Amino acid sequence: MANLVLYRKYRPKSWNEVIGQEHVVRTLTNALKLDRVGHAYLFTGPRGTGKTTLARLLAKSLNCAERKDFEPCNKCGLCNEIAAGKAFDLIEIDAASNRGIDEIRQLRDGIKFAPAVGKFKVFIIDEVHMLTKEAFNALLKTLEEPPAHAIFILATTEVHKVPATILSRVQRFDFRRLSVSEILKRLSMIAGAEKIKIDEPALKLVARYAQGSSRDAESMLEQLKSWGAGEVKKEDVESLLGVVDFEKVKALTDFVVSKNPAGAVDFIGRMMDEGSDLQEFLKEMQNHFRRLMILKIDPALSGLISQELTQDQVEASQGQANSFELQNLSQALHILHSASQDMKFTPIPPLPLELAVVEIIHNKN
Ligand SMILES: Nc1ncnc2c1ncn2[C@@H]1O[C@H](COP(=O)(O)OP(=O)(O)OP(=O)(O)O)[C@@H](O)[C@H]1O
Ligand SMILES: [Mg+2]
Ligand SMILES: [Zn+2]
Repeated sequence: MANLVLYRKYRPKSWNEVIGQEHVVRTLTNALKLDRVGHAYLFTGPRGTGKTTLARLLAKSLNCAERKDFEPCNKCGLCNEIAAGKAFDLIEIDAASNRGIDEIRQLRDGIKFAPAVGKFKVFIIDEVHMLTKEAFNALLKTLEEPPAHAIFILATTEVHKVPATILSRVQRFDFRRLSVSEILKRLSMIAGAEKIKIDEPALKLVARYAQGSSRDAESMLEQLKSWGAGEVKKEDVESLLGVVDFEKVKALTDFVVSKNPAGAVDFIGRMMDEGSDLQEFLKEMQNHFRRLMILKIDPALSGLISQELTQDQVEASQGQANSFELQNLSQALHILHSASQDMKFTPIPPLPLELAVVEIIHNKN
C-alpha cells in the first residue's frame, strides 16, 4: 500500500467514512437494509466528489456475504477482491475509452451469465456521457430488460450529454461539491495517518482551493507530503501549489475600490518579483469578482459562496461589493475573463492583468 497515491489509499471502504452526499448515502443504505436496491442508477456531479467511491461501495455491500446491516465486512474474499480491483462480479467500463457499440454489445452478451460468486453482477459505466449514439441505444435496450442479477451504475460529470431516454430509465443522484469543512475533516485525518506535518491554516487553504473536490484536495496534500523538513505552512502551500490566497486578491481589489491605479500596478509588480503565478492569480480574481457580483445582487445569496470562504472573508467581500455598482462588477468580470485569455499569448506576462485592473478602475462608478 505504501506507494499508492493518497486518494486511492484512503478511498472510503465503508459508508460511514463517506463525507457529505447525505441524501445519496441515506437512500442507498436504506435500499440495502430493505433489500430493495434498484437496477439502474445514475451518479452525476463534479469531479472528485465520490461517484466512483459510492458505486464501488454499493457493489461491495451488495455482494459481501458477511454484510452487517448495510456495511460490508471488508474481510471476506469478495470484499478483498473488490478492493484489489479483481472482482469478477464488478465490471467497470470507462466509456471515455470504450465509446462504441461493440463494447456495449459485449456487455450485453456477458450480462446474461449469472454472477460468478456473489448475488449480483454490478456494471459501473464511468464517463457514460462519452458513449456514441449507437452505444447509447444498445445500452437502452439493456436497461429496458435487465436480468434480475444485473445492476447498473452510470457515472458522469456531464449529465446534459446523456440522452433523455437513458435518464428516464435510471434513478438519478446528484452529487454536490463538498464543503470546505467536510474536506478539511478528511485532510486532517489523512495528514494524521500519514504523519504529514502541516498546520491548520495551510490545510484550510488546500481545502478551500480544491473547490469542492476531495480528490483534488488529497492530491495537493500528496504534493505537500514531500515538502522538506518541518511543518508545512500556509506560505508553503501558496508557493508550492501556486495557490492564491484570498488576502492577495482582496488586497488588489482594495486598490480598485479606492481607485488607485498606481497602488494596483505596484502590487502586481511585487507579485511578479515574488514569482507568483499570474495566470492562477487572474483565475482567483475572477472567482473573487464573481463572489462580489453575487453579494451585490443580494447579500442573502451569501449561502452560494459560504463553502468557499470563511465568515470573515464573506464579510470583507460584502464590504467591497457594496462600493461597486452591479454593472461595474459584471463589466469587470468580462474584462478579467478576456485578460485571462490574453494571458496565454502575451509576451509581457503582467500586462493583461495591469490593463484589466486599470480598465476596471476607469469604469468604476
Ligand atoms: N464524498 C466523499 N467522501 C470521502 N472521500 C471522498 C468523497 N469524494 C471523494 N473522496 C475522495 O476522493 C477520491 C476520489 O473520489 P471518486 O473517485 O469517488 O470521485 P468521482 O466523483 O468519481 O470523480 P470523477 O468524476 O473525477 O471520476 C476518493 O478516493 C476519496 O479519497
Ligand atoms: Mg469517478
Ligand atoms: Zn465482505
